[in-house]
Amino acid sequence: MRVRITRHNRRIEPETTAPRRILTRNRMGWSSDQLSPLSLSFVEFSRACTAPVLDIGAGLGTAALAALGAGASVIANDLDDGALQHLAGRTQTRPGRFPRELHFEPETLGAVHASNVFHFLTGNQLESGFRAIARWLRPGGRLFVQAATPYQAPFAAFLPEYQRRLAAAGKWPGWIPKISIYSSHRQLSQMPRSLHLLDDAILTRTALAAGLEIERAWLFRRTDLPATLHLDGRESVALIARKPSL
Ligand SMILES: C[S@@+](CC[C@H](N)C(=O)[O-])C[C@H]1O[C@@H](n2cnc3c(N)ncnc32)[C@H](O)[C@@H]1O
Repeated sequence: MRVRITRHNRRIEPETTAPRRILTRNRMGWSSDQLSPLSLSFVEFSRACTAPVLDIGAGLGTAALAALGAGASVIANDLDDGALQHLAGRTQTRPGRFPRELHFEPETLGAVHASNVFHFLTGNQLESGFRAIARWLRPGGRLFVQAATPYQAPFAAFLPEYQRRLAAAGKWPGWIPKISIYSSHRQLSQMPRSLHLLDDAILTRTALAAGLEIERAWLFRRTDLPATLHLDGRESVALIARKPSL
């Protein structure tokens, strides 16, 4: 859903103009001006957070600005410093590559949001990233993740290999070192050479291993996903995890 935050009571209301997807400058896919159901949950949770909330890979900053409009104190991160320029002055900005270049004191964040970023991380980076987030969150704080799955039309040729890896209990079955081996889809020219396609089981396992509790993990289709990427309605994965309360 594309939304606007009303000035008077900070309510989230549907926006009426057409959605836009803006190409990132660093071939990291598209940044969306739509809030997915997962991002909306982050914004709603942020409304009641007294501690700052963090948006990793903020891109256009749609979720960061919506959380700001809902009254949260927002820290926007992206590895592309330039992408953060338009957020400076409105949110705190922290350029840098997650997880290696991002640091916070333990238990200082109320919520963390990462939309369409974690499929750019290796397995090791995912593990250390989840551990870092679990450290940064206050007890009761939430992590909101959205990422790409293998169930997208351009990866149809990869699915048999994915199923084989799942059957063999491979640790990171969605890791593709060179995506051009499986697909020459036009949209993939705007992606890095390697991708890490994720699913609900993998995100759940990684979050649990980091000491988080799972609130919900599910597969779905984003409303702003181009029709050429549609496969079977499971094109994206979302996870909401909780840092256990004391
Ligand atoms: C596909 S865009 C998504 C932007 C926005 N979160 C959204 O959902 O519309 C991915 C963004 O994540 C950033 N990014 C990719 N890997 C990152 C990393 N390891 N650390 C921080 N930012 C990263 C890219 O620069 C890009 O702006």
